Amino acid sequence: MFFDSHAHFDDERFNRDRETLLQNMQQKGVRYILNAASDIDTSQKCVELTEKYDFIYASVGVHPHNVAGITENDMQLLMHLSKHSKVVAIGEIGLDYYYDHSPREEQKYWFRRQIQLAKQLNLPVIIHNRDAHADSMEIIQAEDISTIGGVIHCFSGSWEMAKKLIAMGIYISIAGPITFKNAVKSVEVVKNLPMDKILIETDSPYLTPVPYRGKRNDSSYIKYVAEKIAEIKGLTVKEVAQKTMENAKRLFKIAD
Ligand code: NI
Repeated sequence: MFFDSHAHFDDERFNRDRETLLQNMQQKGVRYILNAASDIDTSQKCVELTEKYDFIYASVGVHPHNVAGITENDMQLLMHLSKHSKVVAIGEIGLDYYYDHSPREEQKYWFRRQIQLAKQLNLPVIIHNRDAHADSMEIIQAEDISTIGGVIHCFSGSWEMAKKLIAMGIYISIAGPITFKNAVKSVEVVKNLPMDKILIETDSPYLTPVPYRGKRNDSSYIKYVAEKIAEIKGLTVKEVAQKTMENAKRLFKIAD
């Protein structure tokens, strides 16, 4: 059974078949899903999803795309939502200099602010980092998240960067792009990473792995990510499933 450590089933692309899809997840081998929030509205929706499905857990937080114009009042709302027993992380938070949907200064400010919130709440963080490696590293180091832990979702950096992150107690999450032909750098990262530092994810509906690349992603395609990791590490898919399950449950403090 798999733990999909990052998905967005609140996304409107699931509106027509969300229920059927989620009802069948267990049969497709998916034991747990962490549904990650991207703003205040989706944070609320994530919490609602956890109430509907016992195998779904949630994070609450504001994605760098959406931080422009948010206020301390929004931090209060996140704090309130985070009190729900199935909210197990703050995220996704971070920096995205590829799209630059929000001004970089605001991205940096709210990344730091939400890490501080996570520390106050004693919750791990789910970090989004795209084309902002240097600034992300600087903030992660300066804020010191070793007491709460965290994960970099859909990791796209080098092994050098991954090495520094795991030394700070941060997990590396591998998504669909590991199955792409040009994933040379990520294959190198997986090859070097200790198995107790890896999480797997789909980021559904995005980042669909081969052989469904280009179509809508869903958590059942997590097996293609696990198969690729098993191939790189010389392990069975079952071993990859077990290890990444243990890791995700440890990070998010899920007991059962
Ligand atoms: Ni995401």
